[in-house]
Amino acid sequence: MKAKIEFSNEKRVCHLSNREVSLVLEVKEGKVLTYRYFGKKIKEFNNSFNQPFISRGFSTTYNSENYYSLSEELIFSPTKGMGDFRISALDVTADDINHIELKFKDWKILDAKPSILNLPSSFESKESGSLTLQITQLDQIAGLELITYLTIFDIAGIITRSSVIKNYSNKEITINKATSLSLDFYPQDFDFFSLTGAHTNEANINEFKLHKGVQKIESTRGASSPQHNPFIGLKAPNTDQYQGNCYGFNLIYSGSFLGEVELSQYEHIRVQLGLNPEVFEWKLNAGQEFYTPEAVLNYSDKGLNGLSQNFHEFYKNNLITSKWNNKERPLLINTWESMYFDITEEKVLNLASKAKEVGIELLVLDDGWFENRNNDKTGLGDWVCDKTKLPNGIEGLATKINDLGMKFGLWFEPEMASLDSNVIKENPSWIIRSKGYDPAVSRYQFVLDLSNDDVIEYLKTKLDSILECGKISYIKWDMNRNITDVSNKQLQHKYILGLYKLLNYLTNKYPEILFESCASGGGRLDPGMLYYMPQCWTSDNSDAISRLKIQSGYSLMYSPMVLTNHITTSPNHQIGRVTELKVRYNIGSFFNLGVELNLENCSQEELDDLKQYISQYKNDRKFLLDSQFYRLQTTDSNDFMWLIINKEKTEFKVLIAKVLSKPGIVFSPFKLKYLNPEFKYQNQETQESYYGDELMENGVSFPRLRKDFQALVYHFKKIN
Ligand code: DGJ
Repeated sequence: MKAKIEFSNEKRVCHLSNREVSLVLEVKEGKVLTYRYFGKKIKEFNNSFNQPFISRGFSTTYNSENYYSLSEELIFSPTKGMGDFRISALDVTADDINHIELKFKDWKILDAKPSILNLPSSFESKESGSLTLQITQLDQIAGLELITYLTIFDIAGIITRSSVIKNYSNKEITINKATSLSLDFYPQDFDFFSLTGAHTNEANINEFKLHKGVQKIESTRGASSPQHNPFIGLKAPNTDQYQGNCYGFNLIYSGSFLGEVELSQYEHIRVQLGLNPEVFEWKLNAGQEFYTPEAVLNYSDKGLNGLSQNFHEFYKNNLITSKWNNKERPLLINTWESMYFDITEEKVLNLASKAKEVGIELLVLDDGWFENRNNDKTGLGDWVCDKTKLPNGIEGLATKINDLGMKFGLWFEPEMASLDSNVIKENPSWIIRSKGYDPAVSRYQFVLDLSNDDVIEYLKTKLDSILECGKISYIKWDMNRNITDVSNKQLQHKYILGLYKLLNYLTNKYPEILFESCASGGGRLDPGMLYYMPQCWTSDNSDAISRLKIQSGYSLMYSPMVLTNHITTSPNHQIGRVTELKVRYNIGSFFNLGVELNLENCSQEELDDLKQYISQYKNDRKFLLDSQFYRLQTTDSNDFMWLIINKEKTEFKVLIAKVLSKPGIVFSPFKLKYLNPEFKYQNQETQESYYGDELMENGVSFPRLRKDFQALVYHFKKIN
């Protein structure tokens, strides 16, 4: 069903809907734009729940005749100072203005979804069209116009929201807060959930019952951060992976953000997500405009897997711009964990030829290839190949790798510079710092000021000088520290605009290059980066067992092809865990797989196994690209279970992983889900076959695993 936008009640009510979701707005009191409903698709809105307004203590009435009060209304764009004492969505000040009152002006349906100036945003596609409602609200006294776009897409329960703030007065206005999303709900029981973490421990589910007052997640780091992903979820208390009403909100932005949920005195719920006012402020001169990032609103009545499917489909169809989005990704080997900074051409070529023998298709030269880079203390910023390590230069090495029949990829960390670099010696003002203070050091490096156009031009020239040889098929774009020493509140947002400008330039100029984003792993895994780069290194913790939780967490929003996962060495370099090669492969094989082993140190048996796994993965790659990923529910938190199934439901793979082996094992059946009950499926290993209904209702058993850290994969195909 195509998306619809319908007006009723003399155009005071507007109902946006597609096959899964409805959002209803109403203009109240002739001027206040309000939400009436957001949730499962309804046929028609006739205001069955008509909240009464009664006389209450401490309540400011907007209209004293009918007790209508903003303090209990579901406001579309709440501002402070008019009797709504909850968190505001838009806060502007000027010389003689301390608050604003937005009055509804008009709304209309647009022919096409507008893009957002200088920011990544979702788009219509042939897989999923959309309709956009443009809403204008005005404060004539302040001379301010707020235009908000609500876009509803044809598929999945997805609506997006973004705004433009226009200063049509003749004076400067300061924007102190401009949140992308503000959404109010009537009182209902919700649990909050989000993803929290730290470096090497990303994507933990953070879940609690809403409490009175404001609960928030945020980043002030200048990057979306592993500490909190720019995502807020709300779910009915009985929601699980399979069923229940849930909402997910995600921000298409890669910098600092603030996500807040307020449970008010009479239990109305307000959700906000947008730029973080702690580190943001914008001066708007007369006649100027400001664009907020776009927020994604997602609803599903099919539990957390339903929510994830919506995000996965939406990002695939309507956000990722890379040509690689729908293509099989080359299976790569990365030099980092086998060489770190200790690189020579000979070592790299040896690794490449061994990699070629086991079926690997692309070699990625990670950190350490440029001058002055023998550890992480020096060398960033100049991007000149270290000829003592690579006498034939990058182009020479790439040619040799290409001659082996492999593609070549390169690591960069363009946003950073070390103090000893020529770029900083020649342009000391190019690093972000506050006058008079010594800048804070992190990984011995400093952040280049991407809000400065000269810096952007320098980086374009540098990257062009290496990429123009045409031999680089892949780039790993790293970013290993956060922004500090910011001298004004505009800088962080300007930095992100500069970053997007640079990424726009490079991804348009080199559309064939596969870009992978990375920020010490999941430090900037967000829909903003996804717009430019179709895959992301999820964590610097490459231990397969740790990745069970990390990949599961990120799979809430991001599909398996977005999340890269490498087979690395055992004992694992980050946490020392010993795991079998097969376990590392089985877990990695549900995602965008790569290898980061020192093949010189592998036994012949390991190389033979690896070769077989790689060939298997390459066979499955198309299936993985076109299939759906689900988290299956287990009875024990020590277990993980994943399903990948194609859209026709004729083929699926199940992974069951056990972290620790425990005594007193309980043999409960693992009930599969999302199969076709009518299809008969055959286990490709044992040739046993079962109808989908039996696999789902009676479940399956798995062998007793008398070891820690195990993962098994079963592959089923439909038989006639
Ligand atoms: C952090 C990344 O996550 C690693 O994979 C590696 O590329 C290092 N940076 C290199 O400095």
